Amino acid sequence: MAARAASGTPIIDAQGLMKSYDRQRDVLKGVDLSIAAGERVALIGSNGSGKSTLLRCLIGLHGISGGSLATMNQPLSARNHRAVQNSIRLKTGFIFQKHCLVRRRTVLSNVVHGFFGTPGSWRAHSHHLAPTAWRTRAMEALDDVRLADRALARADTLSGGQQQRVAIARALVRRPRLVIADEPAASLDPLSGKNVMDLFARLCADHGITLLFTSHDMDHALTYANRVVALKNGRILFDKASDKVSQDDLKDTFND
Ligand SMILES: Nc1ncnc2c1ncn2[C@@H]1O[C@H](COP(=O)(O)OP(=O)(O)OP(=O)(O)O)[C@@H](O)[C@H]1O
Ligand SMILES: [Mg+2]
Repeated sequence: MAARAASGTPIIDAQGLMKSYDRQRDVLKGVDLSIAAGERVALIGSNGSGKSTLLRCLIGLHGISGGSLATMNQPLSARNHRAVQNSIRLKTGFIFQKHCLVRRRTVLSNVVHGFFGTPGSWRAHSHHLAPTAWRTRAMEALDDVRLADRALARADTLSGGQQQRVAIARALVRRPRLVIADEPAASLDPLSGKNVMDLFARLCADHGITLLFTSHDMDHALTYANRVVALKNGRILFDKASDKVSQDDLKDTFND
C-alpha cells in the first residue's frame, strides 16, 4: 500500500494539476498528488520532467494553468494572490541545491534571515537587530545542525556541507509545517550529502514537519523518504511506498 496517510486534511492536495509556461507546451500534464501531514516524500524523474516546476507550483511561486490545488488549506490558482502566497511561505521552509546564504554575513544572521516575512521582519536583517526570542531560536536551530560553535563565523568561511546545514537551520528556524527541498544534497560530496540528508530527515521527523524533496540520488530517495513519486514527461509514472520501489520502476523512470 502506498504510504499515503489516511487521516486529516492533506498538507498538499493537487488534482489534475497542469502547468504551461508559454501556453504552447504543458510541462505538467495533469498531476494528482495528495500529501498528508508528517509524510516524507521524494520526487524523482529525469532532467526536465517537471520536478522543480511542480515544487514551485505547490507553494504558489508559479501560477497553475489548470486543475485544482490547495496547499495547507489555501487554494492556489492561475493568479496567486500575494496574501495567499505569503501565508503559505510563512508556513513553509525552502532548501535549494545552492544554499543561497549571504556570504559576508555571519552564520547566525543567515539563520535569523529565516524570519523574513514575519511581522517586524526588518529585524531579521541581522542577528544584532533580531529580538532575543529570534536569536534564541536561531541558536537552537544551529545547535540542531551541530554548528552552534560557528554562529559568529562569516558564512563563506564554512565548507559547502556546513553551509547547507546552515540553510537547513534557516529553513527550520520558524518550525514550518512543510519543507520543500529541491536537490538539497546535489552539490555535496557523497559523505557530506549523506550527512546532510540524515540530519535533514531526522529533524523533520523530530519536529513533525512534512517533507517533500527532489533528488537524482536514488539511495537518498529510497532511504530518506517513506514515499516516492516519479514524474515522467509531466505526468506521475508511479507513486508508492519507498520499500515497494523496484529496480524496474527506476529503469522505467529514467528510460526514454
Ligand atoms: N521559468 C521557466 N520558464 C519557461 N520554461 C521553464 C521554466 N522553468 C522550467 N521550464 C521548462 O519546464 C520543463 C521542466 O523543467 P523543470 O525545471 O521543472 O524540470 P526538473 O525535473 O526540475 O529538471 P532537473 O532534474 O534538470 O532539475 C523544462 O522543459 C524547462 O525548460
Ligand atoms: Mg529541477
